[in-house]
Amino acid sequence: MRLQFPEGFLLGVSSASAQIEGGELDSNWNDWYRQGKIKDGSNPAVADDHWNRWREDCELMAKLHLPIARLGLEWARIMPQRAQPDEAAIARYRTELQYLKELGIRPLVTLHHFSNPMWFERAGGFTRRENLGDFISFAQLCAERFGDLVSDWITINEPNVYATNGYFYGSWPPGHRSFSETFAVLENLAWCHIQCYTLLHETRRNMGFTDTMVSFANHLRVFDPENPKNPIHAAAARLSEYLFQGAITEAMTTGVFRWPLHNRWHLQTGEYCDFHGLNYYSRSTVRGLADGVRKNSPRNDLGWEIYPEGLVRCAETLEKRLVRPIWVTENGTCDNHDAFRARYIYEHLEAIIHSGLPFERYYHWCFCDNFEWIEGESARFGLVHVDYATQARTVKRSGMFYADLIENGGVTDAAYEAYVKEEAYRIE
Ligand code: BGC
Repeated sequence: MRLQFPEGFLLGVSSASAQIEGGELDSNWNDWYRQGKIKDGSNPAVADDHWNRWREDCELMAKLHLPIARLGLEWARIMPQRAQPDEAAIARYRTELQYLKELGIRPLVTLHHFSNPMWFERAGGFTRRENLGDFISFAQLCAERFGDLVSDWITINEPNVYATNGYFYGSWPPGHRSFSETFAVLENLAWCHIQCYTLLHETRRNMGFTDTMVSFANHLRVFDPENPKNPIHAAAARLSEYLFQGAITEAMTTGVFRWPLHNRWHLQTGEYCDFHGLNYYSRSTVRGLADGVRKNSPRNDLGWEIYPEGLVRCAETLEKRLVRPIWVTENGTCDNHDAFRARYIYEHLEAIIHSGLPFERYYHWCFCDNFEWIEGESARFGLVHVDYATQARTVKRSGMFYADLIENGGVTDAAYEAYVKEEAYRIE
């Protein structure tokens, strides 16, 4: 065996409702499309049509032997109008969750993954404290209606990516550019996470369950100075790291709010995660306040550096803050021709297994190619190819490799030879 997984280490896949389900919803991403803001013009109403093809997708997951899968609940579907839940949507999600369980696949469910109903967005979304109760009501409803089927929860996906793209760079909905709004959103999401952490535990405890696991999916990058000997580069790297992920990680995990975040609610400090949910993709090379990519480094098809060791470095910073099991809630790459994904998976898993850190689960991003936010359909991250015209699914070579890893509890020499050995990255 070339790489043996430890006993109990689980491999699964990750997804988000707005990226796979499709459907003409009154949500911020459907609206962003209608405003012509998706680079390749693709429509999230198409996506993978998973809302209709969920059974086929679950069966394909089972065929690949997946024991765990992360999926999202779409707020704009469950609450198309404020305070008016759609019972048919709830029933449909319950059927899918039940079916996953029948197939032996344990769900990890996300409450918020970048998408909002427009009634919430129009009211100012997460910038306004008076709106937060609407999200908490949605979370409470989900806890009550799905709590019997789901023990593992992600409250909020990547608060830093959501706030930075939507409110700092303005490239995502709602397209604002404001330092104060960015940090208001972060602060408010941290508060929401802490409320959801408590309510999910309480609601499930009242149902008689004691196995609830709650966290958030934390997008962490490595920030390294372009020239480590240059004090400006070094200071800029530290500042970017702190503003993008350090302060928010501390607020979300322990309720300690430091500048530029403020604890406006006098929340109690505590320990607000049962595991570290780590989403890891890449490293930023820093010389000023804008991110760069290291020269002569392996790149994916979006130009992101491929840097497996970074996953371990990010996990180390989390463990220093709070000792918890680590679930990699997302890791994957844009590889439009499936030319290096198997190597990418192999190298990231190798870094994980050799790290000695308490990694328990790895959810690959993503199961099927899907709607990649402003990149649309043209950035492919899936283990399964999707033909958007016919919605045909075809397992890629990397998908077969992944199934082989699960079946064998590690990377056999034969799998390495067959899938990884010949693959190479593009260096730029
Ligand atoms: C997000 C996913 C996204 C992935 C790849 C993460 O930031 O959570 O929704 O598809 O990165 O860009």
